[in-house]
Amino acid sequence: MNKKTVFSGIQPTGNIHLGNYLGAIRNWAARQAEKVNYFCVVDLHSLTVPQDPAQLRFETRSLAAVLLACGIDPQASTIFIQSHVAAHAEGCWLLNCITPLGWLQRMTQFKDKSARQESVLTGLLDYPVLMAGDILFYDADEVPVGEDQKQHVELARDIAQRFNALYNADFFVVPQPIIPKVGARIMGLDDPAVKMSKSLADKRGHAIRLLDEPDEIMYAFKRAVTDSGREIRFSDDPEKAGVNNLLTIYQAVTGKDNAAVEADFAGARGYGDLKMGVAEVVIETLRPIQARYKALMDDTAELDRLLAYGAEQARAVSQPKVDEMKGMMGLVMPG
Ligand code: TYM
Repeated sequence: MNKKTVFSGIQPTGNIHLGNYLGAIRNWAARQAEKVNYFCVVDLHSLTVPQDPAQLRFETRSLAAVLLACGIDPQASTIFIQSHVAAHAEGCWLLNCITPLGWLQRMTQFKDKSARQESVLTGLLDYPVLMAGDILFYDADEVPVGEDQKQHVELARDIAQRFNALYNADFFVVPQPIIPKVGARIMGLDDPAVKMSKSLADKRGHAIRLLDEPDEIMYAFKRAVTDSGREIRFSDDPEKAGVNNLLTIYQAVTGKDNAAVEADFAGARGYGDLKMGVAEVVIETLRPIQARYKALMDDTAELDRLLAYGAEQARAVSQPKVDEMKGMMGLVMPG
């Protein structure tokens, strides 16, 4: 049987958190053996908001180490840094020239992010086109992401179909978003009405960062916003969003079904027990990841070697695809 091709990416903007892990990374790792995989640290995407250069350099390597520590296996998956593969930026220009501006102006993430900034960079508007290229240049069938990226994957589908129609060819594979049933939208612990996000994660108590110490994780869970009741059950009542979020985290980490999760807390004396129970499973899940991360960061030469190998593999797939596109679009290939 032909293996499906998977592509996914993550931005090295620091503060990588439990939402990123449960919504994305863990699912990438779990299905590696069944697929042909490309996992990318999308540093060019991070430049769509201002960055400190030294910090971005550190975060890029650090995130690659986190992905490996979370179980991405370089034998089973190509792991690389986006800017190491020139086809991404080059091909993005080509896709820009077939993507209507209105498609980008409609993106909810652009509308949210741009509303919060005084000066909006062109790259922020163009971000989903760069992302579409990431996916399309590898002929990816599947894109495992959290809920918040679904609209961007749908845009990648639209761009693929438009290119295929314009050039009358079956050139791009039209990719599918793969959204997990549990954990696709982990909410902030301090405010269960907003999703857990890297940009809010500097605020103590908002997120569980994958590299947080156990004490810090315990602190954040103990402070988690709940409600004035005592009932520990899954619910879509906005009042109970905090409890629902804690149960969802517990469920995503343990893999238990709803009934088994609720049964685990049937004897709880109150939300304090729920918070402790969730904190414990999260701490135990993150402990080995953190140990592996430390070991990987102790040998950055080996990490760089792995990333150089990944970039070479990625280039071999994406550059010919972009070269072919150039030809289809009427550009003269160098003699
Ligand atoms: P990024 O870096 O914001 O997030 C990485 C992944 O984590 C998921 N995620 C969440 N899942 C559950 N709950 C949350 N609170 C939560 N927050 C984030 C995201 O959905 C994502 O899957 N544009 C992308 C990166 C990207 C990409 C790509 C993804 C660039 N090119 C190509 C797929 C394919 C982004 O900024 O993700």
